[in-house]
Amino acid sequence: MSKSSGGSQGRARRVPGLRQLRGFVRRDRNVPAPSPSVEVEPPPAADVPESLGDWYHRIELPDGTVTPGDRDQSLVYALYDAYLPADLTGRSVLDLGANAGGLAIEFAKRGAYVTAVEYSSRYLFQAQWILEAFGLTERVELLRGSVYAIGPLPQYDIVCYLGLAYHLRHPQLALDLIAHHCSDTLLASSQTITGTGLSMTNRATTHAAPGHTVADRPPGFLWGWEPTEQLFVDMLYSAGFLDPSVVSTSPHRGETPGRKCGNRTYGVAHAASKPARVAIVDDEPLQAIAGHWSRL
Ligand SMILES: C[S@@+](CC[C@H](N)C(=O)[O-])C[C@H]1O[C@@H](n2cnc3c(N)ncnc32)[C@H](O)[C@@H]1O
Repeated sequence: MSKSSGGSQGRARRVPGLRQLRGFVRRDRNVPAPSPSVEVEPPPAADVPESLGDWYHRIELPDGTVTPGDRDQSLVYALYDAYLPADLTGRSVLDLGANAGGLAIEFAKRGAYVTAVEYSSRYLFQAQWILEAFGLTERVELLRGSVYAIGPLPQYDIVCYLGLAYHLRHPQLALDLIAHHCSDTLLASSQTITGTGLSMTNRATTHAAPGHTVADRPPGFLWGWEPTEQLFVDMLYSAGFLDPSVVSTSPHRGETPGRKCGNRTYGVAHAASKPARVAIVDDEPLQAIAGHWSRL
């Protein structure tokens, strides 16, 4: 993890398309203050964690309270322990689709500075509450917005793209973007379908949403994509990552028995010095989203 990264320093900035959540204490005082943050107010602090809505992450707080989710991110961290430095002091981490920050706090506890990007303000309020409970608000920056809007962010030593790919309409586009923000290690997971081919399926065929089974779904209903494990690895290569490998192929032990809707393929890969996407079919959306314009 030797490459330089702007991720741990001066990250409190105005980021078009991403909105900073209140409470984060800026570390670099030379950087201008961001504009006022979220418009929505978090629910009152009483009766937490239940008052903060449904939880996905199961997190044990320092006072013994356990949040009522069923995904234990300390177990996900354990999966990757051997692939990460023991001492993360000063490392920068970008956690995409961070949810309630279960994984972000694992990194922060070990000394890393984390930027957590999450789409849902409900999960971000949960994350904010979690960070306050752990006293880690100075180590984790919460940004509300989409993975597609990370263009203005710097590079990070470690990027987590866990449990997000299969929610996206454009999973390869997201990976191509992510490759530009990772200076060292990528952790990536996805639900995957069985088989050895290079195919992916509309996730509606395997995890039918209520009222949207394959039989009764509206035409064109797309509930994300599930690739084969081989394709998932290929997608990492295609985004320009080196040596992608599979770390685990089963949902982690933190998941509720019977709710086997978890990530089946956990991978790790490393950044090339300059991401060179393989076999580009049509790079225009990436250029547009990343903000690369050229004048005639
Ligand atoms: C299945 S959860 C995974 C959460 C966490 N990364 C984990 O592995 O436990 C997917 C998360 O991604 C968020 N999400 C979905 N689409 C997103 C997007 N386009 N950009 C950022 N986050 C998104 C969801 O709100 C949700 O918190």
